[in-house]
Amino acid sequence: MERPRSDSLRPIWRRGRGEDLHISAETALCGIALHPAGHTRSPAMHNAAYAALSIDAIYLAFDVRPAELGDAVAGMRGLGIRQLSVSLPHKEAILGHLDEVDATARRIGAVNTVLRRDGALVGSNTDWLGAVGALERETRLEGKQAVVLGAGGTARAVIYGLCARGARVQVLNRTAEKARALANDLGADGAGGLEELRDLPYDVLVNTTSVGLGEDVSPIDAEHLGEGGVVLDAVYEPERTRLLRDAEARGARVVSGKWMLVYQAVAQLEAWTGQTAPVEVMAKAFA
Ligand code: ATR
Repeated sequence: MERPRSDSLRPIWRRGRGEDLHISAETALCGIALHPAGHTRSPAMHNAAYAALSIDAIYLAFDVRPAELGDAVAGMRGLGIRQLSVSLPHKEAILGHLDEVDATARRIGAVNTVLRRDGALVGSNTDWLGAVGALERETRLEGKQAVVLGAGGTARAVIYGLCARGARVQVLNRTAEKARALANDLGADGAGGLEELRDLPYDVLVNTTSVGLGEDVSPIDAEHLGEGGVVLDAVYEPERTRLLRDAEARGARVVSGKWMLVYQAVAQLEAWTGQTAPVEVMAKAFA
């Protein structure tokens, strides 16, 4: 049994930056459903963007336990929440609670954004745009040879994005069988075990495994990395992972996973508002 939610209130100075809040009866309510909720940077990014664009909206984090997901979606309908981001552990389960899911989200098998369209709740996915946006800070992707490490949910979105941009994609995973199944499913060009990286030239390398999260370890021995290229690590804590430092030492241009989170939020904001998102403002708010 999980502890019941705390009903206590936090003093306002704990909110963070102390910006004035202008809330009226017209203010649009948006947010993110996830569990646990304590560490998400999405409210900081979206609220900073609303302020920069003078959008009358507020974005909150909703701590939604798996058993409460249906209630949370009913709350979105009943309270008129305008845009709901969805994060772990709900990205797959939420498909069963929506009126529509767009073709891309269905192909990826996960929803990270819910919008209201003519009263219906429509799920979509911007995680792939997060990966593509992060990589495109450093390189065009069309025709490039890309290697994706890992075969979980993050890998699905990254592989989809790379294929959509016309890259050739190899999927390598500790459990090679999972990499093969994923590559087949998403139309990647090949798959294998992590050790195969040493024989595989690449222009772009993306780590989607959890290796390096909060620890100074890398999924790949430094000597098995190629020379140069662009390397993105979906792990964003620490911002400069062991993999990124090793890759930089071998002449790669490196991109932190922070940028994947920034660009998936950018795409969410643009889908909801139809306006161009202030990328640098959102990146600064993330930090
Ligand atoms: P997510 O949805 O965040 O991608 P996931 O579905 O749990 O998370 O996938 C985790 C990925 O990290 C998997 O590819 C996993 O490899 P396996 O399929 O072999 O389990 C990979 N991973 C986790 N720990 C790892 C480790 N110590 N070494 C190598 N790969 C690891």
